[in-house]
Amino acid sequence: MLSEKYAAMLSEKDIIFEVAGYGRQRAQEIGADQVFDFSLGNPSVPAPPSVNETIVRILKEQPPLQVHGYGPSFGIPSVREAVAQSLNRRFGMNYQMKHIFMAIGAAGALAHAFRAVTCPGDEIIAFAPYFPEYRPYTAGAGLTLKVVPADIDTFQINFAAFEEALNPKVTAVLVNSPNNPSGIVLSTPTVKRLAEILEAKQREYGHPIYLISDEPYREILFEGTDCPYTASLYPNTITCYSFSKSLSLPGERIGYLAVNPAAEQAEKIVEVCPQISRTIGQNGAATLIQLTVAQCIDETSNLKVYEANKDHLYQELIRDGYTCVEPGGSFYMFPRSLEPDDYAFCEKAKQLDLLFVPGSAFGCPGHFRIAYCVPEEKVIRALPRLKQLAELYGK
Ligand SMILES: Cc1ncc(COP(=O)(O)O)c(C=O)c1O
Repeated sequence: MLSEKYAAMLSEKDIIFEVAGYGRQRAQEIGADQVFDFSLGNPSVPAPPSVNETIVRILKEQPPLQVHGYGPSFGIPSVREAVAQSLNRRFGMNYQMKHIFMAIGAAGALAHAFRAVTCPGDEIIAFAPYFPEYRPYTAGAGLTLKVVPADIDTFQINFAAFEEALNPKVTAVLVNSPNNPSGIVLSTPTVKRLAEILEAKQREYGHPIYLISDEPYREILFEGTDCPYTASLYPNTITCYSFSKSLSLPGERIGYLAVNPAAEQAEKIVEVCPQISRTIGQNGAATLIQLTVAQCIDETSNLKVYEANKDHLYQELIRDGYTCVEPGGSFYMFPRSLEPDDYAFCEKAKQLDLLFVPGSAFGCPGHFRIAYCVPEEKVIRALPRLKQLAELYGK
């Protein structure tokens, strides 16, 4: 019998893919260069040449049985060690191999983190605007996702609402910085205050509250942005990382989970991860790509392209009378829609072949997401249309 649970999910609207689907159809009608599709978060710059060179070298030099064989369930030891050393060098941490678990993208890392430090029925807090996949991810782990409304003037944390949401059933808090969809980076004072509140609540409740820090955009940071390493400010932090965006490898499905050595039961958390893999059928990241990212660990794609796109769009938006918090990183921005109904606004934008995702999809109505991981020339050609759209609203 077909699972009712998953069949019911088919009728849930996935607005991002709906918009992207429309974009593909429209491209067939009028040509791809005339469709300004800002819907999807797919990197628009290729992986650095060293990635392909490394893959070729590994294939030439290492025995096929090894490269294509099953790897250890925690990940390859030398790869885990390379990740630990890179984090220590860059963020002054003291990870060892035993604190790192190689995962299938950030999604895989999150799936393990949720299950490792919570029990079904617990509550987990996230902050609007948030990545919509957090809903199925947390539901799959049996958690209740509580969303703290946004502070729309800054997209830092709305602490009054956060403190109201906390209660003894909360065993984990989920942050994402640089953020999808706002592009905002949580500042050092914000993360310190979050840490203070969590420390106090842990003492009050008598159990740990883990901070699960989802950081796939950590390397996409713009000039002058202060981006603290979350785990350095709160011991009970589990960092979930992906090479999808930094090395433009989303299809290779590679990332990791790093447990702060100072976290309660740090080593046990990593130890249980292979058991979680067994239960969710996500056994082991692929060997070839693990070996590759270890050799390219401190490299990135040409991420500067995203900052140039951000500058063009942000300046145009402000000139045209939109309200937008300037992003500090990632390849997204989240302006206010020019009418309260963000769906109606995005429909109007669609008439100009500008494709955006309504903010409601991210738990924050009255906004729209621009994913500017598109070629710079396309961003430049889109600017007059943004102006035209503003003019439709009398700006
Ligand atoms: C905030 C956030 N978390 C997690 C993911 C999943 O990343 P991955 O594709 O590496 O699994 C994404 C992907 O877009 C994301 O934007």
